[in-house]
This record gives sequence, structure tokens and C-alpha cells, in this order.
Amino acid sequence: MKRVLITGATGFIGSFLLKNLLDSSYQIAIIVRKESSFKRIIESLERVQIIYSDYTNFDESESEILKFDPEIVYHLGWAGVDNTMHNNENILNVNIQSTLSLVNIILKGNVKTFIGLGSQAEYGPCNCVISEKQQTNPTTLYGIAKLTAYNIMNYNFRQNNIRFVWLRLFSSYGPADNENWLIPYLIKSLSEGVTPELTKGEQIWDYIYIDDVVSAIVSCGENDKTIGIYNLGSGTGYQLKSVIQNIRDIINPAMSLVFGTKSYAQNQIMVLQADNTKLRLDTGWNPSVQLSEGLESTVTWFLNNK
Ligand SMILES: NC(=O)c1ccc[n+]([C@@H]2O[C@H](COP(=O)([O-])OP(=O)(O)OC[C@H]3O[C@@H](n4cnc5c(N)ncnc54)[C@H](OP(=O)(O)O)[C@@H]3O)[C@@H](O)[C@H]2O)c1
Repeated sequence: MKRVLITGATGFIGSFLLKNLLDSSYQIAIIVRKESSFKRIIESLERVQIIYSDYTNFDESESEILKFDPEIVYHLGWAGVDNTMHNNENILNVNIQSTLSLVNIILKGNVKTFIGLGSQAEYGPCNCVISEKQQTNPTTLYGIAKLTAYNIMNYNFRQNNIRFVWLRLFSSYGPADNENWLIPYLIKSLSEGVTPELTKGEQIWDYIYIDDVVSAIVSCGENDKTIGIYNLGSGTGYQLKSVIQNIRDIINPAMSLVFGTKSYAQNQIMVLQADNTKLRLDTGWNPSVQLSEGLESTVTWFLNNK
């Protein structure tokens, strides 16, 4: 049984990854902080080893991590994922420090494969379909921290022959997603009969359903040929207006929407779409959940779990 260590398992994506990996024959340990909410993974807890640690002090868990002796690490944990924290200096420091201390611990063990979650934010505004060849030019501290984390890990893991995959994720969505993202916000407003504040909605956005995100992450973990940076997105650009109308139609087709009550952000990105060719070719993975199907499941979950 291969030993797998997961960080961020209590988070949106990590919780789905944990459930997926528990269905395979892995021995799993997760790193969580004492104050973490286990609500997303409550039914999985008795099947995993829990290592308690805050990222501000990863070193406290060093001996336990080394004792578990992971062969594969899925590193999804990150402080301040949501938009409101994207220019917070303290959060930047926490993530860089935690990256450095996690790398130091990993180098003392026998890890063969390390899969990390990066972000499209590392590329910065490009208003185009983005391939891995796109120059990185992050304009938020979040994007800068992700890119720095990538560089730290890439440098160290290459030197030590650890297979390192860095998945630059675009916008994911699904059941139990964090409530401040657009899709959960819309579901909440519309289901409460509140008219949401909307821009004109002309942006083209790449939305990928959580099951497709997780199957891509796992296929990189299991496929020894994958290495380096991959874009993780559906590869399809959806106009936000149609995504919003789709959600409205699921919840209450009679409700009218007013587009343009909210101004675009300064330097608003109008096109954010992944070229996922490299990932598809190297793994055989393909996104399989249609947007309408994914939105239906997401709305249903939120309505049943208010
Ligand atoms: N969601 C997206 O669309 C998206 C897009 C691009 C990249 N990503 C990346 O994908 C990864 C997972 O994202 P997500 O949406 O699942 O985020 P999330 O729900 O916010 O999960 C973040 C995880 O990190 C943990 N964490 C945060 N601060 C911590 C600290 N100081 N000490 C220990 N643990 C801490 C959280 O633990 P608690 O449960 O204790 O808070 C949680 O398990 C992140 O690396 C994120 O940057 C996500």
C-alpha cells in the first residue's frame, strides 16, 4: 500500500481528493491544524492518520511526517485562497515560510512524487487562452506567492530527484465550495430571492467541475511520466452571463437578472481560459462533466445544505 500525505484535506478541493484516494488502496495521512473544521471530511476521518500542524509552524509535525514516511505528497494547503486575501502581505509570508519548511521536511524523507496546486494567477492578466508557455507576470501577492512556491519546490525537488508536478488551476466549482466565490454567492442570493449585484458579465471564464479537477490531480500522481507545470482547466471558455443565467434557470427561471449594476474591476480580466492540451496528452485525462450538469449538482447540493 503506497503511503500518501495530503495537505489541505479539509478544504474544498482537498476533501474531494481525499475521498477519491480513499477509494483506492492507499494509506493516507493528512496534515490539519487544530482549529480546522472537519465538516467536509467527517466520514473519512477514521480511515486516515491525522497529523496536527499549523502552516505557521510546520516543524512541529516534522517527526510525525517522517515517521509516516510518505511516498507521494499532494500539497493543496494554502492560507488565504479566497479573493479577499489576494494582496495580504502576512498571508504571503505564511505561505512562503510554510513552503520552505515543508520542502525541508520532505527532503529528509523518501518522497518520490510531489504534486502541488498552483494557480492561473501566476500568469497574471493576459486576456487570452493560456498555455504553459505563457510568460508569468503575476499582479497579485497571491500569484507572486504561488510562483515563488513553485520556484522553491522546483529547485529543491529537481536536485533531489523527486518527481514534481505543479498544476496551475483555473476556476473550479462544485458542491461544498467556499461561499465567497461567484457561483455559491449566486446560488445563495437567487435561492433567497435577492437580486445579485452583477457586472455586464461579458467575461469569458474557464470553469472546471470538482470531479474533473480531482481526476486530473490523481492522474498526475499515478502517472510517472508527468512532470513539471500543467494547466488545469476545462479548456472551454464560458461567458459569465450565460453561466449566471444557467444558475438562475435552475433555481428560478422567472427571476429577472440585471446585468451591469456592478462596475468591472480596474484592469478587469475579460478572458481567462486554459489551454489544457499538455495535461490531456501526457495523462489521457479529459474533463467529462458538462457545465450544465456540474451547475445542477452544485445548486442541488447548496439548496440541500443551507
Ligand atoms: N478553488 C479554486 O478554484 C482554486 C484555483 C486555483 C488554485 N487553487 C489552489 O488549490 C488549493 C486548494 O484550494 P481550495 O479551493 O480547496 O482552498 P480552501 O478550501 O481554502 O482550502 C485550503 C486548505 O488549506 C488549509 N490551510 C489554510 N491556512 C492554513 C494554515 N495556516 N495552517 C494549516 N492549514 C491551512 C485549510 O485548512 P482549514 O480547513 O483549517 O482552513 C484548507 O484545508 C490551494 O492551494 C489553492 O491556492 C484553488
